[in-house]
Order: sequence, then structure tokens, then C-alpha cells
Amino acid sequence: MARFTLPRDLYHGKGSLEVLKTLEGKKAMVCVGGGSMKRFGFLDRIEAYLKEAGMEVDFIEGIEPDPSVDTVMAGAEKMLAFEPDLIVAVGGGSPIDAAKAMWVKYEYPEITFEEMCVVFGMPKLRKKARFVAIPSTSGTATEVTAFSVITDYTKGIKYPLADFEITPDIAIVDPDLAETMPQKLVAHTGMDAMTHAVEAYVSTANCDFTDPLALHAIKMVKNDLVESYNGDMDKRASMHNAQCLAGMAFSNALLGIVHSMAHKTGAAFEEFGAHIIHGAANAMYLPKVIAFNAKDETAKKRYGEIADFIGLGGANDEEKVELLIKFLRKMNDDLKIPQCIKNYGPDSYFAEQGFVPEEVFLERLPEIAKNAVADACTGSNPRQPSVEEMEKLLKCCYYDTEVDF
Ligand SMILES: NC(=O)c1ccc[n+]([C@@H]2O[C@H](COP(=O)([O-])OP(=O)(O)OC[C@H]3O[C@@H](n4cnc5c(N)ncnc54)[C@H](O)[C@@H]3O)[C@@H](O)[C@H]2O)c1
Ligand SMILES: [Zn+2]
Repeated sequence: MARFTLPRDLYHGKGSLEVLKTLEGKKAMVCVGGGSMKRFGFLDRIEAYLKEAGMEVDFIEGIEPDPSVDTVMAGAEKMLAFEPDLIVAVGGGSPIDAAKAMWVKYEYPEITFEEMCVVFGMPKLRKKARFVAIPSTSGTATEVTAFSVITDYTKGIKYPLADFEITPDIAIVDPDLAETMPQKLVAHTGMDAMTHAVEAYVSTANCDFTDPLALHAIKMVKNDLVESYNGDMDKRASMHNAQCLAGMAFSNALLGIVHSMAHKTGAAFEEFGAHIIHGAANAMYLPKVIAFNAKDETAKKRYGEIADFIGLGGANDEEKVELLIKFLRKMNDDLKIPQCIKNYGPDSYFAEQGFVPEEVFLERLPEIAKNAVADACTGSNPRQPSVEEMEKLLKCCYYDTEVDF
């Protein structure tokens, strides 16, 4: 038996934010990030709509990108004091993910972070509050997914919390919020969405319910992302839907080792100046992982189906896989994302020598490879890598060398 779960309600289209006026509740806790939602007036609108619905409103503001365990614990304390029956999370993946984890801790104050990390082991939620998610980036689709990614900075590791209990009750996919994204964010989150859809399609947990969502999302990202990046707001709106479809697919079909590797490299070189931003990491690793996974016959066939669906050509599955890899690398070029960690420079632009020094990368490689294999996303990857293979694969991602194993 398999399960397919999505939010009960999804409101979409321009102006759909207004639906907040009609929601029921007494106290709403609005969780938000660093300031973009406030700056562009969305926070005021959200507050006004919730008040119009008769709710008392409080805020947890300043949730940082790649939120920490500490942020989650502090937010839960605030929720325990305010006692909301509605949690409204707005912003990118970071504040929404943090709010999901706060929600768990709010409903179960005794639960430890380690207990929250048990995959599909979450206790029953909704005894205290329901959850509304409003994305302002077009990538993570956390508004419809069963996941939340929280970083333990003492270990430099991202932990995906996973359970349908944390799938939001209501998602509001209003493209107005995505219009203010800076170009880099469009690129990164867009390639995150592409990776979600591709990994979901080849995942061992794919099914008839997830396949059409994944394929349609891939086609939309192909058609819309680069123009959205270049400022076309109709395409930007379309990308907001595309990423959500990709999320519906991967929340139910799960992901693969592109995400395992992104989770375990993202914060691993923190002290050298920057995170490897989630979407950029995915964009760099996806073509390498496709080459690795395509040694599995079923995966190769399914990559071929993707290539066919988006009209890449190719006479056989080998050629189709090659064309798919070439196409994704071209997308990276169009979006000014480097092809490998070595060239991952300031602000994620290309640099001859990026911020991760070679010797540091090699020194940390065994540990990162071990952690990546142990990541929750590895289990549904179509080809199970050994730690040794993972090390080789990560090296290919560092140097941009060919995957021939
Ligand atoms: N839960 C899931 O299913 C899932 C899936 C993939 C990734 N993730 C996680 O989500 C996080 C990344 O989320 P993200 O890529 O959405 O970025 P983010 O939430 O980290 O935001 C990045 C930056 O963009 C700004 N920003 C957000 N929306 C904006 C807008 N409309 N206009 C201007 N600025 C805006 C934020 O203030 C922030 O500074 C990572 O921690 C990643 O691991 C979660
Ligand atoms: Zn992702």
C-alpha cells in the first residue's frame, strides 16, 4: 500500500492571498523571514486579512535562511506562550520549514529534535493548531510537502524532517509574492524545482499519481524558468505553479541522492564564507547523478521518458540520457549557475577558484560521503551508492569530471 497526501485546500492565482479573510480561528501566529515580506507590504496585508477574519495576530519574525534547531526551539516557546490555533507561515522554504518544526514542538513540548527527525515517526498534530503555508519563492514547494529541512549548525548538517503530519492544511500559491524575487533566487529555486521533479520521476517510490505531476512540472520549468529569470512576470507566475506541482510529486514519490548530497554539503564549508545554496547545489549535482543513476536500466529508461516528454530527441536511451544531461547543463549556463563546487564563487557566480578550497573538500569528503549515504533521501534513489561510490560522485561534483562508474 502507498499513500498520496496533499493539503486539503490549495488556493492559487493572482490575489489568492485574500482568502485569509475567510479562514476560521481565534489566534493566528504569523511566521516570517528576514524582511522581504514586510518590505513589500505582504505582511501588512496578511495581518489585515487575518484581523478581518476576527483573529488576534502575533508574529515570529526574522527566521533566517536555512533555519537552525535553536530558531525552531525559540519559536515553539513563543507559540506556547501565545497559543495560536492557526499558524500562518509565509516566505521562502526557510521560514515555512522552521514554522512546521515549531508547530511539532508546540503541539508536543517534550519532543526532542532527534525524535522529530525519525522519518515518518511524527506524532499526530492538529490538536492545537492548523497550518497555512504561503510561499514567496518558486522552488521548495514546502507549502504542499511532508518535509521540513532544519540545520544543526553544531554538526554542519541539514536534517530533513519527513511525515505527512507536517503537510500543511492550506496552501496559498499567489504569484504576486514571487514577483519580488531577485534574479539569483529565481535561478536557484527554479532549479530546485526541476531537481524535485526529475528525482521524483525516477524515484523507486514513483507511481501513477506522481508521474503526471513530475512530468508536467519538468515541462513547465523547461518552458518558463529562463524567461522568468530574465524578468517575464507571466512566466514567473507559471513557475510558481510548476514548483508546486513538482512538490506534489516529490512529497509523495520522495527524492534521491541529489538532495542527499545537497543536504550534506550545504553547510559543510560554512566557515569559508558561504553556504552552497540548496538550489545551486542541486543544479550542479543533478547532471552528475543522472549519469550515475543511468547505469540502472529502469532509471535510464525513465530519464529517456523525460527526454521524450520535453522533446529533446535521441535515438535510444543512452542518447536521451546524454541529451538530458546536456540540456540541464545548458540551463545552468543560462541561469549563470556554475557546473561544479570548485567554481562555486561569491554569490554563487562562477569563479576560477570558488570558496571551497580543494584540500578542505578532500579532507572532509569521507565524512560528507558517509553522511550523504545515510541521508533520508538516499533510500528512494534508483541506484544505491556505496560510501566509496558517493565519494567518487562528490569528487565529480567538485571538479566537474565525467561520471564513468
Ligand atoms: N520542505 C521542503 O520540502 C524543502 C524542499 C526543498 C528545500 N527546502 C529547504 O528550503 C530552504 C530554502 O528555501 P528557499 O530556496 O525558498 O529560500 P529561503 O527561504 O532560504 O530564502 C532565501 C532568501 O530569499 C529572500 N526572499 C524570499 N522570498 C522573497 C521574495 N519574494 N522577494 C525577495 N526576497 C525573497 C529571503 O528573505 C531570504 O533572504 C533550504 O533550507 C532548503 O533545504 C525544503
Ligand atoms: Zn530541494
